[in-house]
Amino acid sequence: MKAAVLNAFGSPLAIETLPDPLLGTGEVIVDVVAAGVAGYTAGVLSGARNYMLEVPIVPGPGGIGRVRAVGPDATKLKPGDWVYCDSTIRSRDDAINPDTILLGWTARTPAAMKLHRFYHHGSFAEQVLLPTENVTPIGAITPAEAGRWTALGRLLVPYGGLLAGDLKAGETVLVSGATGGFGGAGVAVALAMGAARVIATGRNRKALDALVARHGARVVPAAMSGVGAEDSKRIADCAAGPIDVVLDFLPREAKAAQVETAIKSVRHGSRVVLMGGVRGDLALDYNWIMHNNVVLRGQWMYGRAVVPRMVQMVRAGLIDLSAFEMSEFALADANAAVAHAAEHAGPNQLTVLRPDR
Ligand SMILES: NC(=O)c1ccc[n+]([C@@H]2O[C@H](COP(=O)([O-])OP(=O)(O)OC[C@H]3O[C@@H](n4cnc5c(N)ncnc54)[C@H](OP(=O)(O)O)[C@@H]3O)[C@@H](O)[C@H]2O)c1
Repeated sequence: MKAAVLNAFGSPLAIETLPDPLLGTGEVIVDVVAAGVAGYTAGVLSGARNYMLEVPIVPGPGGIGRVRAVGPDATKLKPGDWVYCDSTIRSRDDAINPDTILLGWTARTPAAMKLHRFYHHGSFAEQVLLPTENVTPIGAITPAEAGRWTALGRLLVPYGGLLAGDLKAGETVLVSGATGGFGGAGVAVALAMGAARVIATGRNRKALDALVARHGARVVPAAMSGVGAEDSKRIADCAAGPIDVVLDFLPREAKAAQVETAIKSVRHGSRVVLMGGVRGDLALDYNWIMHNNVVLRGQWMYGRAVVPRMVQMVRAGLIDLSAFEMSEFALADANAAVAHAAEHAGPNQLTVLRPDR
């Protein structure tokens, strides 16, 4: 198969011919049709983000494709099915505390390296091998629609967070970092789940206005200044009532104080879900958390059962994939796709590799 290979951190992707993957029991081979290219891909491939992965590797965390072959234990999947390939692979020999990798992206912990070495190559290739449970049918689509369906990879992350935060219809959600790729998807998903009001925070006013233009009056923009007291007041004014759930997607460049401002805005009994990349320690009042029954939790990715539910949300029209601006690149242009993704990393922008072209 043809694949875009990272032979060394910092070197460009090389288009090479690799052996086709070999099918085992409990596995599926998918012909990749469309693979999303995240805005921060260049930082992963250069090594700047320090992702734990071994080269040479075909990068690419999942995508959309058609089943090529299934193992003997697959009871429903069959060759030809259109599927979403989920890169979140969990070791199967510890149900309580599994080692987890993102296929073709990061092993995250030394304990997960064994899994990373076996399920190694990602989706910037004509074929990808996955555990059967990582492949979810999306129903019939045309090849032209495949690129847009890569948005599932963006949408599922905040969906996992909002489910972890037990969001209920009619509640008020604050999304921190709403002008970014995952935060912006979080706004769309919160609305689709029935949030009455989504307070969207960010420093970029133009991007906040664009969110309101796209989603309507249930989105209330809260432009952040970085001054804690000012930002707290703006959030309270925008909420005009209790905040039930905070979904934080602030990146590693953000300060912990920005996260704290959002956390401290919540009501008694609210839920705060941390999904971003902030590196600092949070200074939070133990007594305040306790007396206010505040639930503070982290969330990495999402459980596998939510994938078919998100597919249904798209099919039902609750999530509109046509709202994404999309640019597609042939596999041979993988390096151009990575550069394009970095320049077009907004909340409704998709960069897609098409190994079928
Ligand atoms: N938990 C998970 O499963 C999971 C999955 C995927 C990604 N992530 C993490 O989520 C984070 C966000 O990813 P993304 O792709 O959405 O990032 P992104 O597109 O760069 O968005 C970052 C957001 O943070 C805001 N921001 C606030 N303070 C900032 C600062 N000091 N520097 C830069 N931006 C600041 C930006 O908006 P303004 O400029 O308007 O303020 C923007 O809304 C990353 O850390 C990523 O690693 C987590």
